[in-house]
Amino acid sequence: MRKIVIAGNWKMYKTQAESLEFLQGFMNHLNETPDDREILLCAPFTALGALSKNLHGSRIKIGAQNIHWESAGAYTGEISGVMLKELGVRYVIVGHSERRQYFGETDETVNLRLKAAQQHGLTPILCVGETGDQRSQGETETVITQQLKRDLVEVDQDNLVIAYEPIWAIGTGDTCEAIEANRVISLIRNQLTNPNVPIQYGGSVKPGNIDEIMAQPEIDGALVGGASLEPSDFARIVNFQ
Ligand code: 13P
Repeated sequence: MRKIVIAGNWKMYKTQAESLEFLQGFMNHLNETPDDREILLCAPFTALGALSKNLHGSRIKIGAQNIHWESAGAYTGEISGVMLKELGVRYVIVGHSERRQYFGETDETVNLRLKAAQQHGLTPILCVGETGDQRSQGETETVITQQLKRDLVEVDQDNLVIAYEPIWAIGTGDTCEAIEANRVISLIRNQLTNPNVPIQYGGSVKPGNIDEIMAQPEIDGALVGGASLEPSDFARIVNFQ
């Protein structure tokens, strides 16, 4: 059985106070949430400690949005796995397209971060996906195959989540058709040594499309940006039918 993982990626949104306010609105929607799914909030570094304290004993897990590959060192502005573990973090997003696009993240550094996360007992969520141009040139398969090949060198596939996030679908309202996301995710799965790695879809996931997305046989969850910021929207997504 593959695990179902529904994760909110808050990106650079929410102060500590706003994060706790979110919890107040969100928690009481979870009474009916089936046990079959893992629920995860990937918050900015500054909110992780407060969230962790307030979620102790709850079923919601905490994720970070990046991790450095060294445990400590002269790396101004970076955060290590030791620091994340101390805050009760369990998951970490690695290689999000926004980090690749705006912060010079490469497949080589993605690979280092994935391995560091695992060494610290965290579960990395590796993001892969093609740009709109790559898709229209028919390069989707090649781009994703290359990313997986380079990113997953010596990565333990028993402690891994992958998110297929087509870049053209992120924050645009232009969701990838569920059936097409299912096709690409199946292609990703065919390249893994462990077929049970949970593979999420991400890119304009909303309360109105989550049921159709999760009805696809290959899709094991969602990585949700904008719609994870509002408690009732994210609750509806987590409570997909
Ligand atoms: P949106 O859900 O806002 O499109 O963002 C997707 C994403 O980047 C999640 O990591």
